[in-house]
Amino acid sequence: MLIQIPALLSPADVARARDVLAAASWTDGRVTAGPQAAAVKRNQQLPVGSDEARALQRMILAAVERHALFFSAALPKRVLPPMFNRYGGELNTYGAHVDQAIRYHPDTGQAIRTDLSCTVFLADPTDYDGGELVIDDTFGERRVKLAAGDAVLYPGTSVHRVEPVTRGVRYASFFWIESLVRSDEQRRLLFEMDLALTRLRTRDGESAEAVALVGTYHNLLRLWAQT
Ligand code: NI
Repeated sequence: MLIQIPALLSPADVARARDVLAAASWTDGRVTAGPQAAAVKRNQQLPVGSDEARALQRMILAAVERHALFFSAALPKRVLPPMFNRYGGELNTYGAHVDQAIRYHPDTGQAIRTDLSCTVFLADPTDYDGGELVIDDTFGERRVKLAAGDAVLYPGTSVHRVEPVTRGVRYASFFWIESLVRSDEQRRLLFEMDLALTRLRTRDGESAEAVALVGTYHNLLRLWAQT
């Protein structure tokens, strides 16, 4: 399931990220790709341990922690440090690939399963042509190009690509999440139940039925979560 997270970053955060990224020095994106992905990857990335990357990682992780919709959709257990990419000029596309199932935390070496991928759009869509994130979904291809500060969550199992950027520069952040609930199907049921419960409680207050259903939500989470 694809889930759009509107305004994951505030306009002030986006402006700060844009300033940092415009002044940063970039390296070839193939350094962090596996062999199959490297063959189709033509973009640039911020060096993972650079001061610029670290500052922006903190900003994005703080935004993720305070965003209720992100939490409900991802049920994060571990989040890898966000990375940053740039598509433009000759290095402007990333062909169809699947992300590696396991990645290692750059600081701790801990193995993290990539249940979910997240892309945070950092450039205004009017600043570049092309650059759609195209994700193979059960409903077919989904083309995603969002406002600066918006994010998309999609299953780590999906084949995806980034279309060539033919004008301007596309900046984005991307990172992976190991979820408390490994199954995309179970996570989706919990997300839909949480959304419906939020609407129900907003409309009717804390009715006995709402209390019972919140209990059911937590009992399902207890059943399915791996901590
Ligand atoms: Ni990818």
